[in-house]
Amino acid sequence: MDTWKFYHITHREHVVCNPTSEEKLTRLVELLRLPTNTQVVDIACGKGEFLMRLTDTYGAHGIGVDISPFFIADAERRLKARASTAGITFTRMNGVDFKPDEPHSLDLASCIGASWVFGGHANTLEALLSMVKPGGWVIVGEPYWQQEPSGDYLEASGCQREDFGSHFSNAEAGEPRGAELVHTIVSSKDDWDRYEGLQWFATAEYARTHPDDPDLAEMVDRVSKARAAYLRWGRDTLGWAIYMFRSRSVA
Ligand SMILES: C[S@@+](CC[C@H](N)C(=O)[O-])C[C@H]1O[C@@H](n2cnc3c(N)ncnc32)[C@H](O)[C@@H]1O
Repeated sequence: MDTWKFYHITHREHVVCNPTSEEKLTRLVELLRLPTNTQVVDIACGKGEFLMRLTDTYGAHGIGVDISPFFIADAERRLKARASTAGITFTRMNGVDFKPDEPHSLDLASCIGASWVFGGHANTLEALLSMVKPGGWVIVGEPYWQQEPSGDYLEASGCQREDFGSHFSNAEAGEPRGAELVHTIVSSKDDWDRYEGLQWFATAEYARTHPDDPDLAEMVDRVSKARAAYLRWGRDTLGWAIYMFRSRSVA
């Protein structure tokens, strides 16, 4: 089935499409303390919640980029319902192709939960650092191994051991690239359970209300295998954090 349709349906109940709770997202936004007229980009923006909160809180101007037509349509619909919509646009494109008008011109660049766009965590940091001003924010959300993944879990989840690092290596990856780690926002098991569990809920609801969808059997099968892998291994194996870096200088 179409990849983006799959994620659209499994994430119908989510506003934040990663294992960060809405309360922790609020904490992240508060800590940024952005000046007015700030310019930001959110790569792989999903439904645009982070970007919209930056605008609600600081009047930030910016772009949200995502490859999914469903998420971009959702983000645009949600933006229209917001009190202030000035200064935000959502664009459907491959995030790797996004370039600001000038290098080192933005106040914040983020990629939360999609480091594969740039080929991994380190490359994501380098790409985002090339977009921000000295002192600008680089915000990335990334999984990490809480313990060595078993071969069975890797096989069941389709992940590779080298896809992710440890929490320590994710955090340390900024320093050699000219980025200072200033904070981490780490998800709890409860946050993970909500993120994963809402996918099961959304799929069950969809199955109940769209029994004739020809993609249903494949979708239900994928979600039930992912649920089993999460409950059996993933819940104790994979962690998630948002890493807040500040660019030290022009790289
Ligand atoms: C785990 S979700 C995170 C969404 C959002 N950042 C959030 O935290 O709510 C991953 C996002 O990456 C997007 N995505 C996947 N590949 C992409 C690409 N090559 N370029 C841009 N976006 C991409 C998906 O459509 C999805 O919205």
